[in-house]
Amino acid sequence: MKAFVLNTDSFQVEEIEKPTLQPNHVLVKVQYAALNHRDQWIREGQYAKIRLPAILGSDGCGEVVEVENEKDGHWKGKDVVINPNINWGNNPAFQQKEYQILGMPAQGTLAEYISVPIDRIHLKPAHLSSEQAAAVPLAGLTAYNALFNKGKAESGMQILISGVGGGVAQFAFLFAVAIGAKVYVTSSKSDVIDKCKSLGAINGVNYKEENAIRDLAKSIGGFDIIIDSACGNGMNDLIATLKPGGKFVFYGATKGLPKDLNMRQIFWNHLQIVGSTMGSDADFLSMIAFCDKHKVHPILDKTFDLKDTVVAFDRMKNGDQFGKIIVKI
Ligand SMILES: NC(=O)c1ccc[n+]([C@@H]2O[C@H](COP(=O)([O-])OP(=O)(O)OC[C@H]3O[C@@H](n4cnc5c(N)ncnc54)[C@H](OP(=O)(O)O)[C@@H]3O)[C@@H](O)[C@H]2O)c1
Repeated sequence: MKAFVLNTDSFQVEEIEKPTLQPNHVLVKVQYAALNHRDQWIREGQYAKIRLPAILGSDGCGEVVEVENEKDGHWKGKDVVINPNINWGNNPAFQQKEYQILGMPAQGTLAEYISVPIDRIHLKPAHLSSEQAAAVPLAGLTAYNALFNKGKAESGMQILISGVGGGVAQFAFLFAVAIGAKVYVTSSKSDVIDKCKSLGAINGVNYKEENAIRDLAKSIGGFDIIIDSACGNGMNDLIATLKPGGKFVFYGATKGLPKDLNMRQIFWNHLQIVGSTMGSDADFLSMIAFCDKHKVHPILDKTFDLKDTVVAFDRMKNGDQFGKIIVKI
């Protein structure tokens, strides 16, 4: 089968052996995969415990073509999405030590076929095309956990989604709009802000413009929740825009560590700084059900052919995307 393989000195389509089914596994013919920044971090060597060669890709939608156990035969021919969690563990609040994410070291979705345990597959939400559904798993799960479990987002709250052009951020935005929150966004791109306004954001500003976020927050009395993945030195300015008792929930640190943190501001205002990562298997089910119920349509950026996967990765590396970057297998 064809797969996009990352090795020490190459990153290209290669012909490799089709996976053989392990006990209780199913074979999925992948139709579409989606990229996450994790894939790019691994490509750059900036990820823990990298093992090469690797077939990246945590997100995929495809058709079940083989089942190992006859009792699972009813899955054959079904279009499914794959839960990228491996060994989350029993605690819904955080993952256990043995936790892994699909796509390094386990084979990922940037391949014609993938063998996964039967309990990792879920029917594709009926309102989504396979291309749209491929965008959902990792980023949808991360956004869901950050917004609802950690942020405790509710209708009517003033919520800021920062860097809304990102794959996870656009889900956090869509989910927050879906529950009737008052949603504000930041982005480096004015067309992204305009698009979000057309999809339900109340307002948005460019995070690169000095004082823009501060002025926006002042005009509305501050935010109840901020969902962020950039951190870095902009973190103090963001935290300063929270209402007393507000939450800063972050699931990444693309801009690195902040040089300092204004601790007085945090304790005096009873602020919460909350870390979040992916989500449990139960969260995955809740997230898929949420997408179904609210008919959430992920924002797709562009779709690339498997042979153009490097171009797709470079687009994400350069931050040129708005929403999920898809690879047609
Ligand atoms: N913990 C987890 O489970 C988990 C899961 C998924 C992702 N992550 C991490 O979260 C981060 C984002 O992941 P992703 O897959 O969504 O990446 P992505 O699709 O590449 O999006 C990155 C976005 O970050 C935004 N950004 C860049 N600089 C910013 C700044 N100074 N302030 C605010 N926003 C800024 C940009 O938004 P604009 O385009 O709007 O400017 C960009 O589109 C990565 O670091 C990733 O590793 C963690």
